Amino acid sequence: MAKLNDNYLKLPGSYLFSTVARKVREYQEANPDKKVIKLSIGDVTQPLAPAIIESLHKAVDEMGKAETFRGYAPDLGYEFLRNTIAEKDYKAKGCNVSPDEIFVSDGAKSDSANIQEIFSIDNKIAVGDPVYPVYVDSNVMAGRTGTYDKVKETWSDVIYMPCVAENNFVPEIPKEVPDLIYLCFPNNPTGATIKKAQLQEWVDYANKVGAVIIYDAAYEAYISEADVPHSIYECEGARTCAIELRSFSKNAGFTGVRLGFTVVPKELKVDGVALHGLWARRHGTKYNGAPYIVQRAGEAVYSEAGQAQLKAQVAYYMNNAKYIYNGLKEAGYSVSGGVNAPYVWLRTPGNMTSWEFFDYLLEKANVVGTPGSGFGPSGEHYFRVNAFGSYENTVEAINRIKAL
Ligand code: MLT
Repeated sequence: MAKLNDNYLKLPGSYLFSTVARKVREYQEANPDKKVIKLSIGDVTQPLAPAIIESLHKAVDEMGKAETFRGYAPDLGYEFLRNTIAEKDYKAKGCNVSPDEIFVSDGAKSDSANIQEIFSIDNKIAVGDPVYPVYVDSNVMAGRTGTYDKVKETWSDVIYMPCVAENNFVPEIPKEVPDLIYLCFPNNPTGATIKKAQLQEWVDYANKVGAVIIYDAAYEAYISEADVPHSIYECEGARTCAIELRSFSKNAGFTGVRLGFTVVPKELKVDGVALHGLWARRHGTKYNGAPYIVQRAGEAVYSEAGQAQLKAQVAYYMNNAKYIYNGLKEAGYSVSGGVNAPYVWLRTPGNMTSWEFFDYLLEKANVVGTPGSGFGPSGEHYFRVNAFGSYENTVEAINRIKAL
């Protein structure tokens, strides 16, 4: 008789953004005349840049001719893309990452959920709190997180590293030694960043205790300050302790196109076994590669025209972030983030819970954000507003909030 993976039954509620979407749908059904502005899930709204569209068209045409048609992609991704990534994202920035350490995928969400598979179930994970829910949920599904405390909203076998105003939303090294450490900078959801010297401390610590850092750098394109690292491989010793996840979703608008990559350096070993080989095995068995046309679109991200167009796109969203940050501040909210990240993180007023504030904004301003508690217990009494809307909608949303 078939048996369930009953770890799935332990998951409380539904995926955060599914809950948000359901609540908004219900509100809209009950109030069809209201214009709801969504600044919740970090989904981009600007169209793909012309250089990317041109590349997509060209690749589609190639697929229509016998002599240029492509079938299955190579396991790790096409060399043209991996060489470009190694050159432009790493070598040009002084980081030592070779093309064959880059695994092209359909995005950082799946990689961040799947990477835990190559580690023993006995590993203890540490996460920033609040955190992108996929890291914890995927470990719950694997059975690595122990039991759930409904009151505290925590898992018994997860080390939570509070990221709160008092520590500038940067986690401190925990008392209990973790085996796997998830770090995300610029951070989703808080928009906080880590300085290079602070990240170096994490790398030194991981090397000392034999932990592996899973470093999610999906928002690196939004970094505007000089001393904020774009990659963990800027730190000395990272090649022996860190895996890095990258995405094309936020820097190039690929949320619907789907493309990302994971770097696993060859020196990174656990019990003397290179993780590179394990991830290659997993990739080869469970994945058939991102589509050729999408990988060509990814290559165009790095062309001269692509770079210029995407710089303008990132600037557009960061202009929204500035409007959100300043507007909420003027309205008396305590705000952070929004300088090196497309997320503004605010403290809810009057000690409202995050979900109370969600309902309040939805009903009174018809604006949707994301409740901080959905990202972890330390996110309670916080709220995330994203900068990925159109400028017009962003201005309208903030002005409505200011008018409350
Ligand atoms: C978010 O809103 O946190 C992100 O868009 C989710 C994601 O990238 O999967």
